[in-house]
Amino acid sequence: VKRVNVDNIYNHVAYLSEEIGSRGAGTEGELETVEYLVNQFESYGYENVSVQEFTFPSGGDEVTSYNVEATKEPLKKHDTGQEIIVGSHHDSVPWGQGANDDASGTAALLELARVYASTTTDTSIKFVAFGAEEYGLWGSRKYAEAMSAEDAENTVAMFQMDMVGSEDAGDLVMFTANGEKNTVTDLGSAAGSRVSELVPYSELGRSDHVAFHNLGIPAALFIHTPLEPWYHTEDDVMEHISKEKLKNVADIVGSAIYQAARKDTPALE
Ligand code: PHE
Ligand code: ZN
Ligand code: ZN
Ligand code: ZN
Repeated sequence: VKRVNVDNIYNHVAYLSEEIGSRGAGTEGELETVEYLVNQFESYGYENVSVQEFTFPSGGDEVTSYNVEATKEPLKKHDTGQEIIVGSHHDSVPWGQGANDDASGTAALLELARVYASTTTDTSIKFVAFGAEEYGLWGSRKYAEAMSAEDAENTVAMFQMDMVGSEDAGDLVMFTANGEKNTVTDLGSAAGSRVSELVPYSELGRSDHVAFHNLGIPAALFIHTPLEPWYHTEDDVMEHISKEKLKNVADIVGSAIYQAARKDTPALE
């Protein structure tokens, strides 16, 4: 996607990780993050930004967290009735700034939302930044739970970006919940994902694509592997973020979305 501007992505990572800092679910940092996300989406022209509030149990308490969503509507006359979800998680572990995990994916999500605000599609694209991923994928599970059967039926692809900007991590890989290829990994490969090594993984390696897979929706996680040594430490900071990595992922996911969002794409009938 030519119009992806990597400086925008980089600046979002800086804002989220340095200006806001730690974004643990249920903290002040999360509230600032939600406000930032809503403001950004609205500044791109989205008039339908929605915030889904939910609670999850943690240490005997019910903690409140939020999913933030902006929807790109298709061109009416070509509307396929299909939907695509592009996701990331906006929370960090409570003890760190989470520049890579997952300010990077959230920053790429914002930039793709900006680009798609002025790109014609035949399919609706939902850009969703999930909350409380780190406490057990709560945001995506609550989101999936709230989807109508019709929405689930019409959702043809889910792209998750989690940890996509570290200079110290390895190559871009797509993970699926069952280790098998699907529509999303096919589109990712066609868009130039250099590595398409599908590794089944444990509970630890999960991200927000899993809830959608469980609904029968083709879903994949875009991530760099092997993970950087700063993973889930307080050293997951801006200094280790690579513009090249960010640009590469945003271009690939952006192009894959484009293929999925046009009516004449052969990958989706
Ligand atoms: N879900 C992990 C996190 O957010 C990311 C991850 C996914 C790590 C897959 C390894 C493998 O921290
Ligand atoms: Zn994490
Ligand atoms: Zn993560
Ligand atoms: Zn580094």
